[in-house]
Order: sequence, then C-alpha cells, then structure tokens
Amino acid sequence: MGNGFEIRDLDAAVGAEVLGVDLAAPLDDATFAAIERAWDARGMLLFRGQRLTPAAHVAFSRRFGAVEVPTNRQYALDGMPEVYVVSNIVEGGRNIGNADAGRVWHTDSSYMAVPSRGSLLYAVEVPRDGQGQPLGDTLFASMTAAYDELPDAMKRRCEGLHAVHDYSVQYERRLAKVRAAGGQRAALDAGTRERVAPIVHPVIRRHPRSGRPCIYVNLAMVTEVVGMDEADGLALRDELVAFATQDRFVYRHRWNEGDLVMWDNTSTQHLAIADYALPQRRLMYRTTVAGTA
Ligand code: OGA
Ligand code: MN
Repeated sequence: MGNGFEIRDLDAAVGAEVLGVDLAAPLDDATFAAIERAWDARGMLLFRGQRLTPAAHVAFSRRFGAVEVPTNRQYALDGMPEVYVVSNIVEGGRNIGNADAGRVWHTDSSYMAVPSRGSLLYAVEVPRDGQGQPLGDTLFASMTAAYDELPDAMKRRCEGLHAVHDYSVQYERRLAKVRAAGGQRAALDAGTRERVAPIVHPVIRRHPRSGRPCIYVNLAMVTEVVGMDEADGLALRDELVAFATQDRFVYRHRWNEGDLVMWDNTSTQHLAIADYALPQRRLMYRTTVAGTA
C-alpha cells in the first residue's frame, strides 16, 4: 500500500476520506480492496488533491465494474462517451454539460432495471464567491442510517411496496423548466424514450452488496407508488425523502479542484446546491459504474 494510506470516517452519518492515494497511478489489489470495503461501509468516499485525466478517471471507475454510457448523450465528453459533463459553461452558444444536474434529492439511474452501483464525480473547476470560498456544494444523505431510524410504523407501511421510476416524465419536467428560464436543452428523442421505459423498484431496497435495507424512493424519478393513488404515493415518497434527508443523516461537501467524490447509488442520495452563476464557472466530470442484477 502507498505511503500514508489511510481511510478516515467523516464526521457524519455517511462518508469517509481516503488519504495517501494517487488515483492516476496503478493501485495494488490490497489498497483497492480497502477502498471498496470502505465504499460499501460508508456509502461515499472523498479523495482530495487528485490530478485525473478523463482516461484515468474511467480506468479507476472500471475497477468497480462496467462503466455506463449515460442515457443523456448530449453532455458526453468528446471522444469519451463514458464521461458525463456537469457544467454551467457555455461555449459557442451551447452548454458544454448538464447545467442543472441534481437539483433535487436523487440517486443516479434509479430509472434503470438494474440501477447503477455508484458514481464518481471529479471537480475540474469550482465556482467561488468574492472571498474565494467555494460554491456549488453537494449534499449526501445515508439511506441506510435513515432506514434504521425510521419509526416502526413507517417500516411496516413500506413493507412490500414498490414505486415507479420514470426517466421520461422527469426529463420533460426539467426541459420545461430550463426552457421557461430561457435555457436550451434538446428534447428526449424517441430512441432514448424507448430505452427508458418506466421501471418498478421496492420502496425499501436491499443493498445489492451489503444486504442492508435502504430507503429507495427519490424526488427526481419516482412518479407513483404501485397500488396507491397518485397523490397518496407522492405524499409517501415526500415523507420518506424528508425524513431521510434530515441534517443528522447528511454530509455537505465543499468542493476543491482535484476532489474526486464517489457515492453509492443505493445507500446514499445526493443533492446539488445551485448558489452560483456565470461568470462563476463550474466544471465536473462524472462516471457511472453499472450495477449487477
Ligand atoms: C450528478 C449530480 C451533483 C453536483 O452528477 O449526478 O447529481 O453537485 N451532481 O454536481
Ligand atoms: Mn446525480
């Protein structure tokens, strides 16, 4: 293992910081295994001070499984479809990345039959205020800790329930918002719409690796709960998310250039804080590791 390799839990219900690792260099199996164990146990890992090319970012991601090509291909990095650009930067009149990613609590690709295992987000440019303080924080909430503390009556209410996750519905909603605000965004093409038919997942989903129960409804993709009328289903969804995203389950990450943060898409949810605007530039690269059935 590398000199000074250490994993330290963050002072929160979720997350750990990994020190003494250069993710651009080859990682030996023992170091990798320790990282993977910590990821499973803590849901989110932080590596500071990295210098990652997109190729190195993808290569590290691949150690955890196949890397997805994101559904929304309009924001792929040129020549690297596995790298999804999250950015407010406009070049030649066009957004180079998704400018409004993650503005409600969510997990990535919950709308897929086999949701992704996790995502790895790397900070290239971080917006700052007049004092040089970082803006555009990201919040992470532990869905395992939140489930453990759910009142028993609520646990019983959720038993056996399933929710519908619908990418198209959320996409149309966001498209309308972006366009109302004068932004530009392509409509969902028919091919994509077909690939993302609505999907059903348990409201309380067992983590595919640890087996721990996780609250698995989110505000971005869940449009109804099976067997409930729409309003009741959404009320249940909202109540669960409000419970699970209380401060005691949350870690707030203040970004610096060179941070790589990886999160588990079953045991955590995340939320982007939109407290910056051009000329404050934000540029992030994301990879998404596929899940297993
Ligand atoms: C994402 C996402 C949050 C952020 O890339 O999946 O939700 O703060 N990003 O950029
Ligand atoms: Mn996200």
